[in-house]
Amino acid sequence: MAGHAATTDTAAISVRGLHKSFGPLAVLKGVDLEVARGEVVCVVGPSGSGKSTLLRCVNLLEEPTAGTVRVAGVEVTHPDCDIDGVRRRIGMVFQSFNLFGHLSVLQNVMIAQRRVLRRPAAVARRIARENLDRVGLAEKADAYPAQLSGGQQQRAAIARSLAMNPELMLFDEPTSALDPELVGEVLAVMRSLADEGMTMMVVTHEMGFAREVADRVAFMDGGAIVESGPPAAVLGSPRQARTREFLHRVLQQ
Ligand SMILES: Nc1ncnc2c1ncn2[C@@H]1O[C@H](COP(=O)(O)OP(=O)(O)OP(=O)(O)O)[C@@H](O)[C@H]1O
Ligand SMILES: [Mg+2]
Repeated sequence: MAGHAATTDTAAISVRGLHKSFGPLAVLKGVDLEVARGEVVCVVGPSGSGKSTLLRCVNLLEEPTAGTVRVAGVEVTHPDCDIDGVRRRIGMVFQSFNLFGHLSVLQNVMIAQRRVLRRPAAVARRIARENLDRVGLAEKADAYPAQLSGGQQQRAAIARSLAMNPELMLFDEPTSALDPELVGEVLAVMRSLADEGMTMMVVTHEMGFAREVADRVAFMDGGAIVESGPPAAVLGSPRQARTREFLHRVLQQ
C-alpha cells in the first residue's frame, strides 16, 4: 500500500496551508495534508475540530479562506479552475444518504450518470446494476429507499457515487447515523473499496476501521492536524497529549 512518498506529483489530494473562517470564527488554522493515489487516510478528532470543513474544502463545498487544495494535480482553489469538472472525479458520501424517495434504488444510481455524464439509459442501467452488485444490493434494485434499512440506504448511496467512476472518494462519518448492528455492512463495503485500491479520505469515529484499513490516520483538534502517521503509531502509541486524551475518551464509550 502507498503509505509513503506522497509528493505533489503523485498526490491524489494535496492540501497546503489551508485556512477556513466563518465570519470571525477560525475553523481551519493551517492544515497540510497529502493523500497519495491508492491511499486510505482516516481523519479523526473531537466534534467541532474541523474535520467536515476540511473534507468539504477538498471539493470546494466550502471555499477556503487561504491556502491551496490540489486534486489529482489540479489546483481547485485557483480562480480559473473548472470545479464542476474536478467534482465529477470525486465521490462524496455523507452521514445522510439523500436518496430520492420517489425513485427506485436503481433509478437513484442512474440519475446522475444520465444527467451529469450523459450516459445512455442502457449504459447507466448496466453500470448501476454492476455497482449495486458491488455493494451487495443487487436484489434491492427495484425497491424504494423507504423500504431499505439505513445500512442498505448508505450502501446504495455508495453505489451511486461509484457509478460515476470517481478517482477518489470522500466519506464524512458514513456510519454515524446508523444503528450499531448496521455499521459493519457499510464498513465492509468501504474496506473492499480500499482493497481494490480506491483513494479514500474518511472522517470517522470508527477507530477499529481506522486501525485496520487506514494507511494513515490524521488526528485533528482545534482546526489543525495535531499528529498523523500509521494507525498503529497514532492510535496505538500517540505522541501528543491531546491525541491520547481523545483516544482515552472515545475508547471508554
Ligand atoms: N457553515 C458554517 N457556518 C458557520 N460555522 C460553521 C459552518 N460549518 C461549520 N462551522 C463551525 O466550524 C466548526 C467545525 O465544524 P466541523 O463541522 O468542521 O467539525 P467536525 O470536526 O466535523 O465536527 P463533528 O465531529 O461534530 O462532525 C464548528 O465550530 C462549527 O460550528
Ligand atoms: Mg463533521
